[in-house]
Amino acid sequence: MIYESILTSLSSAGKAHIAPFGVRERNGLVLIAPFRPSVTLDNLLETRYAVLNFTDDVRPFAGGLTGRHDWPLARASKVNGVVLASALTHQELELLEIKDDETRPELYFRVIHEEIHAPFRGFNRAQAAVIELAVLVSRLHMLPMEKIETEIDYLKIAIEKTAGERELEAWQWLVDKVENHKAAMTGGNQA
Ligand SMILES: Cc1cc2nc3c(=O)[nH]c(=O)nc-3n(C[C@H](O)[C@H](O)[C@H](O)COP(=O)(O)O)c2cc1C
Repeated sequence: MIYESILTSLSSAGKAHIAPFGVRERNGLVLIAPFRPSVTLDNLLETRYAVLNFTDDVRPFAGGLTGRHDWPLARASKVNGVVLASALTHQELELLEIKDDETRPELYFRVIHEEIHAPFRGFNRAQAAVIELAVLVSRLHMLPMEKIETEIDYLKIAIEKTAGERELEAWQWLVDKVENHKAAMTGGNQA
């Protein structure tokens, strides 16, 4: 099972970095697997700490793929790290083991602290739709445009029926990115 989180990390100089990451549990540890190259990977190897933020604000997910990387943060409680202000819950992690790989190393962490900040208010289909489109946008260079457009047509139903303002904003950032990519491809073909 994979949970979609917002991973916050610090560089050795103390600069915060915010990126969406899917995480899984393996034998009581948290597995994070970044594709190289990755600022997050560099930070985790340098500082050995990560914070996983679980939030119902989908904008940091869409923002991570559309150049919107700055979100309000607070200090972590037990590790040298930062917490996303919109997190409903967060976990503070320490790196224990690394399985190195040229493409996608596996990093295993132990949870040393967790906090609950706000209640989970239930599933929302528009939030799930934004996450799905964010994953597609992260693979824009690998997927046929026709598949992405078919998926957008389907996911749009949940947006139109169930979105709030945050979901509409995040959805629009992703749709704009797809449109820009399409225009660049078409322009490239004509040149
Ligand atoms: C829902 C979601 C899950 C993601 N999970 C991963 C992941 O497990 N590994 C990865 O390398 N990138 C993942 N990405 C893409 C990264 O967030 C994106 O490439 C990011 O820029 C990481 O690079 P950075 O560490 O240099 O910021 C995911 C993106 C989304 C939207």
